[in-house]
Amino acid sequence: MNALAPDTKFLFFPQLNQVEDDSWLNSKSTFGPPQYENFFSGETLQGKFLKELATAQLLPIKEVLECFEYFAQIRKHVRAEVMADLCCGHGLLGVIFAMFEKSVDKVYLVDMVEPPSRQHLIELAISVAPWIEAKIVNVSERISVESEWLEEGMAIVSAHACGSLTDLCLDIACETKGNVAILPCCYPKKKCSAPLALQNNLGFELAFDVERTYKLERAGYHIRWQSIPAAISPMNRVVIGKKKS
Ligand SMILES: C[S@@+](CC[C@H](N)C(=O)[O-])C[C@H]1O[C@@H](n2cnc3c(N)ncnc32)[C@H](O)[C@@H]1O
Repeated sequence: MNALAPDTKFLFFPQLNQVEDDSWLNSKSTFGPPQYENFFSGETLQGKFLKELATAQLLPIKEVLECFEYFAQIRKHVRAEVMADLCCGHGLLGVIFAMFEKSVDKVYLVDMVEPPSRQHLIELAISVAPWIEAKIVNVSERISVESEWLEEGMAIVSAHACGSLTDLCLDIACETKGNVAILPCCYPKKKCSAPLALQNNLGFELAFDVERTYKLERAGYHIRWQSIPAAISPMNRVVIGKKKS
């Protein structure tokens, strides 16, 4: 499958732009000591965190690279005192915001299911960045515009929230009037409200994101489209909405 969005270079891990065989970058195999030793070792904060992740063999390689590269693309556009990582699964994206962004005070990790990896991941993160313990709030529920913990100005981020859950993430951002970033995955064709002419000529995935862009613009957002490296995932378009002041 071709990538949805133009390819881009690795930002957080520029050393990966030089790898000749990039076939392992989207691997579902566990991120472990070999990857850490070969590409990520170091005494920096990310080096220490990646060492913990590698030793614990907790997450697939793809998930680790995806979260860091997505974070690198969106951090300066969406960071806010209070943030929510919606449909967060393991929660790595939200944990990275809590770890690397000093201005972020609180991150809600929200998913209707809390996988066993989440708590382990948080413990590993706290071992190298103890300041995140006070920032992380786990919420196990379906995402909704009516959740009582939503607050004005809260930024919303989400990675690969399936189908129209991505649209619900945008609706929630419009409710909080906060910045937002999405990395859409599957596109439910039947839910695409873009004009047929656009769907037929642009392809419905692109038309879907065009429609999302207009919707956010109408809600008072300035929109940017970016991408993560296609070697990590072909579902690589990043849509960022920055609330106009
Ligand atoms: C494809 S996974 C993405 C997980 C994570 N963001 C990532 O990038 O690995 C989609 C996640 O959405 C969650 N989910 C599905 N429906 C949901 C809902 N209605 N409310 C909250 N979470 C939901 C699932 O439990 C799953 O963890």
